[in-house]
Amino acid sequence: MTPHREIRLNAFDMACVGHIQQGLWTHPRDRALDYLSIDHWTSLARLLERGLFDGLFLADVLGVYDVHGGSQDAAVRHGAQIPLLDPMLLVPAMAAATSHLGFGVTVNLAWEPPALLARRFSTLDHLTRGRIGWNIVTGYLDSAARAMGLDRQMAHDDRYDMADEFMQVVYRLWEESWAADAVKRDRATGVYADPSRVTRIRHEGRQYRLDAPHLVEPSPQRTPVLYQAGASDRGRTFAALHAECVFINGGPKPHVAGLVADLRRRAAPRPIRAFMGATLIIGRTNAEARDKLEDYRRCASVEAALVHASASLGIDLAAYGLDDELPSASQAIQSNVAALRASAPRATKQALIDRMILGSRQPPIVGSVEEVAEALIGWVEEADIDGFNLSRTVIPECLEDVVMLLVPALQERGRYKRGYAEGTYREKLFGAGPRLTAPHPAAAVAR
Ligand SMILES: Cc1cc2nc3c(=O)[nH]c(=O)nc-3n(C[C@H](O)[C@H](O)[C@H](O)COP(=O)(O)O)c2cc1C
Repeated sequence: MTPHREIRLNAFDMACVGHIQQGLWTHPRDRALDYLSIDHWTSLARLLERGLFDGLFLADVLGVYDVHGGSQDAAVRHGAQIPLLDPMLLVPAMAAATSHLGFGVTVNLAWEPPALLARRFSTLDHLTRGRIGWNIVTGYLDSAARAMGLDRQMAHDDRYDMADEFMQVVYRLWEESWAADAVKRDRATGVYADPSRVTRIRHEGRQYRLDAPHLVEPSPQRTPVLYQAGASDRGRTFAALHAECVFINGGPKPHVAGLVADLRRRAAPRPIRAFMGATLIIGRTNAEARDKLEDYRRCASVEAALVHASASLGIDLAAYGLDDELPSASQAIQSNVAALRASAPRATKQALIDRMILGSRQPPIVGSVEEVAEALIGWVEEADIDGFNLSRTVIPECLEDVVMLLVPALQERGRYKRGYAEGTYREKLFGAGPRLTAPHPAAAVAR
């Protein structure tokens, strides 16, 4: 009998008060207001490691949500992803508090030279001993472009073209610049590294120019574990070439299953780990879970959810009546528009609001621990996903429910690991070596 596929869990968070489920920070037991303290992040990391989570996935944006009504005021008032800290800077403290947890950090490549981003990730790969991952994004906000001195962001597909070139450069910095035997650390001869084994990376492309060696010596994984979220046609082409893990929206099962099958087909023979966004409300009984939902629900903010949705759909929802059909074109996150259209017979503002049960477009899975365990198993079986990126509701109790209740239930069903595998984030995820291998393009330049 083939063993059941184990379900992988990431926590999905952001260094702000209001991440996905808008308004829940006002719940009296919610600790999101502690996001400015290191202890908040280290205790989160320890809790996740207790639950054998594969990773903590951190979102990030570089602009304010000002699409809704053309104003940033509601985002600021509700704490909807503003104020927002730099997620990379949280990682060393959490890494020091844990030994196995991986960190999938969203970093936007659009506003800096490849050499700078490559150095920060190499630094974190050393400090975490190979537990760093990168969610590759190019942004979706004109407000970020204005923060960086431009009037608007690049067009949707051009952003992916820019990212393709950026990836070529960072692969060469991480994989090619330093040969595996370049570092000698020889006190007797005084040779730290052999200069003949360290090469300058020369690149002249459409977007980027470079003539320099990588500044950091080889780290355990070299290239961080690569995540991608965004499943437009152009996004899937990008993911199939570069991504090791993809993060997809929820939605109807056939929609998600089709997306995953297409991504796997495009990436073959490379394996892809597919994580679906999910929000769980778990009780010891169904009634307890329903009570919890009602309790949380009182704190949810539909206005803040519309602010968030307007920005990520790239549609000013304030300009639409409840029964108006929303446009299908977007220069922001096209897969979010596709998920909305797949979820309702008519993609109206009212249909969207109907889904905003807890302050986001992502309706929660609510039930007893057994019901939620079976629901997750159903997703894995029927949509061929590998695991879930779990949004927080009321933190930390929502994660304590996962660690104390759901994980044991999944373990009993043979669906969850009982201990971590050894090695780097990549080794834990794929059961192979620490570095990328052919046919991944990073391997083509590896030394
Ligand atoms: C589930 C999900 C999460 C995402 N998280 C972020 C994020 O944290 N920061 C960001 O700038 N873009 C984020 N994006 C945007 C995408 O990564 C992508 O770059 C872009 O918006 C285009 O997506 P598309 O190919 O579906 O149109 C996310 C997209 C999805 C679907």
